[in-house]
Amino acid sequence: MSRTPVTVTITGAGGQIGYATMFRIASGAMLGADQPVRLRLLEIPQGMRGAEGAALELADCAFPLLAGVELSDDPGAAFDGANLAMLIGSRPRTAGMERGDLLSANGAIFGPQGRAIGERAADDVRVIVVGNPANTNALIAQQHAPDVPADRFTALTRLDHNRAVGLLAAEAGAPVSDVDGITIWGNHSATQYPDLSDATIAGRAALDVVDADWARGAYIDRVAKRGAEIIEVRGGSSVASAANAAIDHVRDWVLGTGERRTSAAVVSRGEYGVPEGLVSSFPVRSTGGAWEVVEGLAVDAFSRERIGASVAELVSERDAVRELGLLG
Ligand code: NAD
Ligand code: LMR
Repeated sequence: MSRTPVTVTITGAGGQIGYATMFRIASGAMLGADQPVRLRLLEIPQGMRGAEGAALELADCAFPLLAGVELSDDPGAAFDGANLAMLIGSRPRTAGMERGDLLSANGAIFGPQGRAIGERAADDVRVIVVGNPANTNALIAQQHAPDVPADRFTALTRLDHNRAVGLLAAEAGAPVSDVDGITIWGNHSATQYPDLSDATIAGRAALDVVDADWARGAYIDRVAKRGAEIIEVRGGSSVASAANAAIDHVRDWVLGTGERRTSAAVVSRGEYGVPEGLVSSFPVRSTGGAWEVVEGLAVDAFSRERIGASVAELVSERDAVRELGLLG
């Protein structure tokens, strides 16, 4: 294998999504079967034993593509030379915690990590934030790395997108591979808007195949609240599907989507009236290693209202972290 290994830093590597992600990366599922990878696992001291255990298991898999595994509890060391940064570890909300407490606790994580990325990562670094609240955590990290092009910071809404594809395909009785053109707009939260206006199933408008009231009612609720549904049924938040979505996001970003569309939360340049600088989910394609927002889609009054509601939530999260002094 003569290609230079890609350095992938995974934060929260001792946690559940980290564990579900790293073996697939090491097997080649994210960057391809001919691309060696070096894994850097970042944890806090309390999570280090879990990360150490995962590293032992990685060794026991004898993955031919795995060029090395290093563990650290220091963001500077963990992001040094990183080509890909997968920011999974975050502070979950616990009983009695107010929203401001959660935003502050995460600001204390994503500010220093963003700064370390700015100072130490490779010039081509690409960042995906999975840890919640993912969009606003990505904004905090991006604001602490002013020398890194803003379009290298993204947040995960691919899980919402994949959920939206799966639930539409099930309703239509069609294979998932027939579905295209779904968009997740806005925040990775219950305000997100899974939009079927432009979706197709085997080339037919999805809104001609499924009931339009369902598409603009129960479907939106089911997709937007799927995270809560998983928590209720499984007794814990999504893990394998989140890891799978993070891998889909990075693979498509790096290797390209072709003409196929997907959704990702990227830094707004003002597209579709979303205020510049917010990390919001859009319809995207990736070519040449960069996400491009798909522009020119028709947005009717219903969609405009739904997008507006989710974007308003992003604005209020941004204002809250700004007031807490977390934007650097
Ligand atoms: P988990 O609690 O199992 O693991 C999180 C790990 O992060 C822990 O091991 C913890 O020690 C570590 N950690 C905390 N602070 C850290 C820091 N400063 N640096 C490095 N590591 C740190 O949680 P999980 O199930 O793996 O979920 C991780 C996050 O992903 C949560 O915030 C969850 O809400 C979020 N999530 C997002 C999506 C999405 O679609 N965006 C989907 C599912 C879950
Ligand atoms: C998910 O979407 O599964 C996670 O973000 C967990 C949650 O709180 O919804």
